[in-house]
Amino acid sequence: MRLLLPLLSCFLVVGDLFTIVHAETDVSWQQSFTTPTTTMDGPVCNRTVLSCHWNGSDENTCCSPKYGLVVFTLQWVPGYGPSDEFTIHGIWPDNCNGSRAPRRGCDKTRISKNIGPIIKSMNPELHQQMARLWPSYKGDNNWFWSHEWNTHGNCVSTLRPNCYANYTKYQDVNDYFQKAIDLHHDYDIYGALNVAGVLPGRTYSVETMLTALKQAYGSRVKIDCDRSGQLKEIGLFFYVKGRDEYVLTDAVHRGSCGARGVYYPKKY
Ligand SMILES: *[C@@H]1O[C@H](CO)[C@@H](O)[C@H](O)[C@H]1NC(C)=O
Ligand SMILES: *[C@@H]1O[C@H](CO)[C@@H](O)[C@H](O)[C@H]1NC(C)=O
Ligand SMILES: *[C@@H]1O[C@H](CO)[C@@H](O)[C@H](O)[C@H]1NC(C)=O
Ligand SMILES: *[C@@H]1O[C@H](CO)[C@@H](O)[C@H](O)[C@H]1NC(C)=O
Repeated sequence: MRLLLPLLSCFLVVGDLFTIVHAETDVSWQQSFTTPTTTMDGPVCNRTVLSCHWNGSDENTCCSPKYGLVVFTLQWVPGYGPSDEFTIHGIWPDNCNGSRAPRRGCDKTRISKNIGPIIKSMNPELHQQMARLWPSYKGDNNWFWSHEWNTHGNCVSTLRPNCYANYTKYQDVNDYFQKAIDLHHDYDIYGALNVAGVLPGRTYSVETMLTALKQAYGSRVKIDCDRSGQLKEIGLFFYVKGRDEYVLTDAVHRGSCGARGVYYPKKY
């Protein structure tokens, strides 16, 4: 019960909207703040099957994502986030042919405008990491994170509440954002470029950057630039083994950086 006081104070800080979210079920809010975990303790899944590689009856969208080609996008925005880290844009579950999952999300019953406060209450440590590594360049993190959850997160079919053996409210939200933080940890793009001598403050050819990252990870990534040729974003493409083991694969789209190269600016 040590947890109770901080939780209550979060409630006070968070205010009206958040209280409304929980008003429906008096009993369940207490339950919803039990320690969240990232453990997938749902149905027993055959972890050998790779998404987009189903064989007929293997199909179980709790055990393998329906939108099985997943793009993890990282952005490089001067003025935002640590000077030596790409920051997160989002995890986007796409169709196996590379086309986008439904643009407006997949489950209206799970949309929320309060993802920031919800995560802060459930998992302060995750919230802290998100504030550092997933900043909105429009200055409103809660809006940004809610947008990512509403348009992409609720399309991850393996995170549907009925896929958990013991679902607690917002565990799906926690697991989506935690996965992004974990992937950010696994794929240190700045470090991989650095090792290859690719450092902010200069212009490089697209091939130099692609080769550096291929050397580090074994797959081709997607690199996007703005109209002036400045680096904007890097996309990593994955298939998913079982529910949540992401396996890097080659990007299925070409990036938008042109022949004049990629300007990789210093952030500060
Ligand atoms: C998992 O799938 C593989 C390949 O389809 C199959 O050989 C294996 O028996 C399955 N394992 C279980 C526990 O269902
Ligand atoms: C899918 O089916 C084909 C043809 O029956 C077989 O050759 C292949 O090994 C199967 N793949 C998996 C992952 O079970
Ligand atoms: C890609 O796959 C989706 C879902 O299966 C389908 O609706 C869409 O038409 C496909 N697009 C192309 C270009 O094949
Ligand atoms: C689910 O929760 C119940 C009650 O807390 C517990 O008895 C049961 O072992 C849990 N099941 C799993 C699979 O964790």
